[in-house]
Amino acid sequence: MVIFFNIYMREKLEKLRASAVVEIQKIKDLKKLDDLELNYFGRKEGKLNLMLKGLKELGQEEKKVIGSVANELKSEIQILIDNKRADLRSIEINEKLSTEWLDVTLPTGFEEKRGHLHPNTIIERELEQIFKSLGFMVADGPELESDYYNFEALNIPPDHPARDMQDTFYIDNKAGKEKLVMRTHTSNVQVRAMQKYGVPIRLIVPGRVFRYEATDASHDIAFRQLEGLMVGENISIANLIAVMKVALKGIFQKEVRVRLRPGYFPFVEPGFEMDMGCLICNGVGCSVCKQVGWLEILGCGLIHPNVLKAGGVDPKKYSGFAFGVGLTRLVMMRYGIEDIRYLNSGDLRFLKQF
Ligand code: DAH
Repeated sequence: MVIFFNIYMREKLEKLRASAVVEIQKIKDLKKLDDLELNYFGRKEGKLNLMLKGLKELGQEEKKVIGSVANELKSEIQILIDNKRADLRSIEINEKLSTEWLDVTLPTGFEEKRGHLHPNTIIERELEQIFKSLGFMVADGPELESDYYNFEALNIPPDHPARDMQDTFYIDNKAGKEKLVMRTHTSNVQVRAMQKYGVPIRLIVPGRVFRYEATDASHDIAFRQLEGLMVGENISIANLIAVMKVALKGIFQKEVRVRLRPGYFPFVEPGFEMDMGCLICNGVGCSVCKQVGWLEILGCGLIHPNVLKAGGVDPKKYSGFAFGVGLTRLVMMRYGIEDIRYLNSGDLRFLKQF
């Protein structure tokens, strides 16, 4: 009886093994595999446990034999289940990889807006680079300036007719007695620089200047200049011309036609005006050059002894040149801008072109 039962149990276990193998093979998803695992090994309803309940009636020896057969079977099926689970998981991952991947190089659909430099800044920085390569330092100065540094120290006393050359914004100074103006030129830094740094000195000052005047295509109430100053022993107009040629060639990337005319500025003696051939009309005549084909781009000369003195420099020992370039003019020439007023307009249709 016991022996029969034994054989009967072995057969049942064998059948269980065979059906488990087939079932596991067929399974296609993880959820069903979990169900199957429960179905075979569940504590109460699991097929294996139900089957082993019958073992209670067996003797000690038989229990041992059948028990170990059952354990082997259990671990065998468990291994099959574990392998299947690993297979299903990797299939699942591969499927995800092939359907859910993201192309991070695809355009977002939104154009990234990038800022850029104002044309004024572009030219200013280029000039700074050129002058630095010639050993000039770059300095700054106040836009709200005392009458002294803007005029008097530059050999323009209060009632001097030269004051009429520049239409000036005079500012009420409620805080003190000093007369204030919006600087009409970057020349205001000449005396400040000599006082601060002494001589020899080579320096440029790019910056905004202000004029109280009617605006048109070539005049605005605020524009930019670049002042230059070189003081030392035996500095002459020849040095000035050499420096200016290098600077203009650097900016326009080609030889630019220039001409020097005698010019009057109270702070230089002798004084000159330098013109360059208009690059917008190539000398034919247009609204920017007022139909003459030439554009005045800078005033220059040898620094007046009175100005050197104001800067604490001995005019008997030292000489120097100074120049003031219309930086805004250079920008207009370089980019073919026909109306100066675009530059301060803040109009994006204009600015986006640079
Ligand atoms: N400050 C003059 C102006 O705004 C330009 C100028 C002329 C500057 C001669 C200079 C100079 O340094 O030497 O019109």
